[in-house]
Amino acid sequence: MASNGDVKDIHNSESTKTLLKSDALYEYMLKTMVYPRENEFLRELRLITKEHTYGFMSSPPDEGQLLSLLLKVMGAKNTIEVGVFTGCSVLATALAIPDDGKVVAIDVSREYFNLGLPVIKKAGVAHKVDFREGPAGPILDGLIADEEHEASFDFAFVDADKPNYGKYHEQLLRLVRVGGVLAYDNTLWGGSVAMPDDTPLTEDDIDVRDAMREFNARIAADARVEPVQLPIADGITLCRRIA
Ligand SMILES: C[S@@+](CC[C@H](N)C(=O)[O-])C[C@H]1O[C@@H](n2cnc3c(N)ncnc32)[C@H](O)[C@@H]1O
Repeated sequence: MASNGDVKDIHNSESTKTLLKSDALYEYMLKTMVYPRENEFLRELRLITKEHTYGFMSSPPDEGQLLSLLLKVMGAKNTIEVGVFTGCSVLATALAIPDDGKVVAIDVSREYFNLGLPVIKKAGVAHKVDFREGPAGPILDGLIADEEHEASFDFAFVDADKPNYGKYHEQLLRLVRVGGVLAYDNTLWGGSVAMPDDTPLTEDDIDVRDAMREFNARIAADARVEPVQLPIADGITLCRRIA
């Protein structure tokens, strides 16, 4: 439709269709569609986590809402999470899977997980959470070594050390069934993946930006998965395993 005076077309040949244009728009989404429908225990854990020094590491509630819907649409029962922190996404998962479902939740720190555990218990879903303490690489290798786990998971969510995403991808392709989904968090890393190389960034951010660029290129070229990259939160890449 053509512009009419001051009324601008929402979409035109000069614009992109991304909706992430302002903090106000994000606040609008949260207030309109996320907070009013947020599970009371997810809210409690979100508010506890917000007070933690590293509270920024937690996935935001709109991401939890997406994971929850996706898991329910898929009918996912058995899942893996790499990078648990206080358990916001683990709780969203445990609430979304059936009562006899399981989330194998891996983190190097039990201390972080213990902060969220009382809320997970109060929510009545602790029996669905199988927490494993330690570095994810060897723990995933342990699962692979046990034949009963081969292609036995419906879904995996990776939200830990970014430089190892490529390695986790190879391991998870052994554990997630064909038709299942592997989800990777932070794949746009604050937009830094598309910033000029000389943009001033911390050494850590340069390392993660480079790791994410490499990982994104690897996934784009991986014929074993059908990927989609969502500009939600910090960028979420969903990969449906097809081979
Ligand atoms: C971004 S936080 C996870 C946030 C969580 N998914 C949520 O939604 O609240 C990353 C977590 O990964 C964990 N981590 C970092 N390196 C790891 C590794 N090699 N193996 C397992 N966990 C790791 C950290 O201890 C931290 O708790």
